[in-house]
Amino acid sequence: MLGRMGLKLGLKMALKMRLTVFRGLKPYPLKPYLLKRGPFGDTMPPTDTPEILAWEIMMSDAATYMNEATQKARVIDGLAENVPMRVIEKVGIIGAGTMGGGIAMNFATAGIQVTIVETKEEALTRGLGVVRGNYQRSADRGRFPQEEVDARMDRMTGVLEMEKLADCDLVIEAVFEDMGLKKDIFTNLDRICKPGAILATNTSALNIDEIAGVTQRPQDVIGLHFFSPANVMKLLEIVRADETGDDVVATSMALAVTIGKVATLVGVCPGFVGNRILAARQREAQALVNQGVLPWDVDNAFNNFGFKMGPFQMSDLAGLDIGWKKGAETGNPIRDRLCEMDRRGQKTGAGYYDYDENRQRSPSAVTEEIIADVTGVAAGASGLSEQDILARLLHPMVNEALLILEENKAQRPSDVDVIWSFGYGWPGDTGGPMFYGDMVGAGEILATMQALAADNPAIKPAKTLEKLAKEGGRFIDLDLGGLKTG
Ligand SMILES: NC(=O)c1ccc[n+]([C@@H]2O[C@H](COP(=O)([O-])OP(=O)(O)OC[C@H]3O[C@@H](n4cnc5c(N)ncnc54)[C@H](O)[C@@H]3O)[C@@H](O)[C@H]2O)c1
Repeated sequence: MLGRMGLKLGLKMALKMRLTVFRGLKPYPLKPYLLKRGPFGDTMPPTDTPEILAWEIMMSDAATYMNEATQKARVIDGLAENVPMRVIEKVGIIGAGTMGGGIAMNFATAGIQVTIVETKEEALTRGLGVVRGNYQRSADRGRFPQEEVDARMDRMTGVLEMEKLADCDLVIEAVFEDMGLKKDIFTNLDRICKPGAILATNTSALNIDEIAGVTQRPQDVIGLHFFSPANVMKLLEIVRADETGDDVVATSMALAVTIGKVATLVGVCPGFVGNRILAARQREAQALVNQGVLPWDVDNAFNNFGFKMGPFQMSDLAGLDIGWKKGAETGNPIRDRLCEMDRRGQKTGAGYYDYDENRQRSPSAVTEEIIADVTGVAAGASGLSEQDILARLLHPMVNEALLILEENKAQRPSDVDVIWSFGYGWPGDTGGPMFYGDMVGAGEILATMQALAADNPAIKPAKTLEKLAKEGGRFIDLDLGGLKTG
């Protein structure tokens, strides 16, 4: 027994040393996605093998790294320690839709008074009804006593006039993603809100400098980017615009803790950090389908890697008709054809997938036919393996993260991993794009990016990727100057 344990420990230490030595010098030979499904087959072998121990070590490394990364995300580099905080006792939310209602719940749950503004009584009633329903479901599951439902709802006041936000310490705008509308709202907020109020937008991708520019107080404007469902998802991307004041940043970071969120500070660029990396993944997912790869092959690869949802499951959930109008011919003819057939995702009972009454997905012969018709490639003829599919989608995410760091739109590489872990469900045993990138190695990722760039001039391997592939070093140790604004 002792002998076996000693052997196990010795092997573990030897592997740990090997891991430390190899990391950053060359790709660690055991790729997690291979290990997952694995050389082991569907079930683990009964005895410890070097492969399994190496896997365990990588997994425990990832957990330790992510704990540290989450702590580090709270630190704002360059912020004076004694920055005065603004007091937040009353919050205003504009829009009681999907995001507004969820955002409001965070504050009401934390004991903070919330005023929600809508344009019409019906929208307000519907929005507040959804909030009450959410609280009621939690109470029914025993998460808190029934009285809490009323106590939390009592902290919410629904109104139809934006003027009622005059005494709020913080206002978060969550109306439709439309620059003109957001500019109108911020022009009005500038007129209505008391001096010193923080004016925040929940935009997913719009230019917050442009929004701040319509006010006389850009130092008070910031992005507070919640994720859907906003009452559940842990991540809060705090977006610092060019003029945002230090005290507004510090207050927002502290507020995130009050409402139980994990916050990261990021800069203004299309989609900020999380959605920008997501867009790189979606672009490659679509490119694969345009080559005849089936959506479920892509999603299954992601599920096996550890994501609850792959790109096409996510599209079906979000709705294929976001940004699409009847009769439109976009750069995505497969999506256009599906939407024209009213296959717009889960909400219409069909999208890329067919859905049963319990919203269980199954591969669709209709989708397969459309793909074959549009691409001219017979189903399954692409010849790509699951590993090829993962490399095609995950490596560009690592590359995009590097471009973001090179443009100084994030503080540090580990913040990227925190964002993808808490906002997009990146599986814990591979950390996030940066930690995973180190597991794979810069050389391999560069090779994928060079192959993609050869076919698409819009794709550029990041300079840092080329440097690391040449000189060695880890993605997670990169310091490219941190977040810069102004
Ligand atoms: N849905 C998501 O997954 C998600 C995630 C993160 C960020 N966002 C962003 O959050 C914002 C809101 O998105 P959503 O999904 O909640 O939209 P939604 O359509 O569900 O809700 C928008 C609400 O705003 C209301 N509204 C419109 N104009 C208004 C005005 N002038 N005054 C008051 N209310 C007004 C509408 O009546 C509607 O109820 C968008 O900027 C979006 O990009 C969305």
